[in-house]
Amino acid sequence: MTLHATSPIEGQKPGTSGLRKKVKVFQQNNYLENFVQSIFNALERCEGERLVVGGDGRYLNRDAIQTIIEMAVANGFGELIIGQGGILSTPAASCVIRKYPSCGGIVLSASHNPGGPDEDFGIKFNGPNGGPATESMTEVIYRNTQQITEYRKADLEPVDLDKIGEHKRGATLIRVIDSVADYAELMQQLFDFDAMRALISAGNFHLCFDAMHAVTGPYAKQILVGLLGASSDSVINAEPKEDFGGHHPDPNLVHAAELVDRVNEQGLDFGAASDGDGDRNMVLGNNFYINPCDSLALLAAQSGHIPAYSSGLAGVARSMPTSRALDRVAAKLNLDCYETPTGWKFFGNLMDAERITFCGEESFGTGSNHVREKDGLWAVLCWLNVLAATGKSAAELMQEHWGVYGRDYFSRHDYEGVDSDAAATMFTELKQKLPTLAGSAYAGLSVEQADEFSYTDPVDGSVSQGQGVRIFFSTGGRIVLRLSGTGTSGATLRVYYDQFDAQQLDLDPQVALAPLMRAAEAIVGIQKHTGRAAPDVVT
Ligand code: G1P
Ligand code: ZN
Repeated sequence: MTLHATSPIEGQKPGTSGLRKKVKVFQQNNYLENFVQSIFNALERCEGERLVVGGDGRYLNRDAIQTIIEMAVANGFGELIIGQGGILSTPAASCVIRKYPSCGGIVLSASHNPGGPDEDFGIKFNGPNGGPATESMTEVIYRNTQQITEYRKADLEPVDLDKIGEHKRGATLIRVIDSVADYAELMQQLFDFDAMRALISAGNFHLCFDAMHAVTGPYAKQILVGLLGASSDSVINAEPKEDFGGHHPDPNLVHAAELVDRVNEQGLDFGAASDGDGDRNMVLGNNFYINPCDSLALLAAQSGHIPAYSSGLAGVARSMPTSRALDRVAAKLNLDCYETPTGWKFFGNLMDAERITFCGEESFGTGSNHVREKDGLWAVLCWLNVLAATGKSAAELMQEHWGVYGRDYFSRHDYEGVDSDAAATMFTELKQKLPTLAGSAYAGLSVEQADEFSYTDPVDGSVSQGQGVRIFFSTGGRIVLRLSGTGTSGATLRVYYDQFDAQQLDLDPQVALAPLMRAAEAIVGIQKHTGRAAPDVVT
């Protein structure tokens, strides 16, 4: 019996990056099945098609994969490609989908959110280009979840996910593949591995990569240690764990504190960390934090040192809240620069249309057209390639960059678990106020323009409205406010500050941005609405 009756379950609307909920929610009867069948129903055809499946190894990953296998077989897929141990980083899944033409892939991850029986789980669908499902596909999946009456699921012997090999279940070929091999091969096509190996093996360059007990451990060990000759203790927390060792696998100064301490105390030259599913990155020089917006701008400026990009970039893109440091590089190099809403899905069309090569977000996401996801280890290799080619330190490179382009001070303040109604009221009041702001001064800063960001995709003409409130000041400063689309409890308010300065290049960002923070309070009343005197996370 493969056909099972079911009925719609409330709240299966995917957010910025797939459907993310508490594990307990996913464990409800039919919850996962309804969503997976809704994905399959959104595809033109399942019969005979190839599908890639993998995840970040968090709690429920293995069980969910067995369920997806049973459903894929019952839906008639021709072939399933699954990462060994159920492991595929998000960029590796994108790479595999592109390499073995597929109708798409299912990635099980809640990214940087904690894992474990009481924590988060997630599921996202990537299309045949290897990128996150488009807005319209996501809409169809959601509509399907509201109308579902049955799903298909076969009763099967579990597949041994730990052994590389092939299995047959019904008419479906199931291939369990090495999680790292295809991705490592792609990296070797892009970068100058000889130069990086020479830098690392010379003995006076020391690095540390923190895999945060998440998916990148096996990737970093094979590439950094195996192929580039870094010492084996240079990859820490390398074993993927279902609960990420009890931590948030979120590569920022708060959650990757162990890495920051190690780099600074041991005087290492370079440090980096990646998140739960391996698509984010944080990079550090010795006692030198590099903001993701600056990292993106610098890599674009230095991309000529990297073999795959040495003949020039097609164009670049950044998400709207990301600082405008990238725009300055684009202007100088005469490149088109696109501003998209938050979330990687908007970059895919631009890449498929060959309008951009590099793109990124302030949220520790950097990537290129080698896959259709942001890619943590790729960004680390970009830095290592540039460090090897220039012989300069990360701090020297960044300071020289600011010397040429000026500095865009940037900070994001997150207020987590805010009461959803309070957050909604705050935005309603703010949006009402928007047309009246221009021309007025708040906390001594005069507003030049204020609006809600709306994006028209230049490739397919689709329009995405309500993508965050922007307030521009005559000083060149900007405040952006939006609600997170990836949180799983209450509302998370994100406030982004950026301020350009061509002269003063070495201020503490929190000091440089303090006038904007006072203006935000005067305009929005963050404290009054949220009841919070300070943000929970400052990056
Ligand atoms: C967050 C980030 C966003 C990123 C997304 C998925 O989304 O802000 O840049 O694309 O995670 O990694 P948010 O929670 O803000 O909706
Ligand atoms: Zn992620």
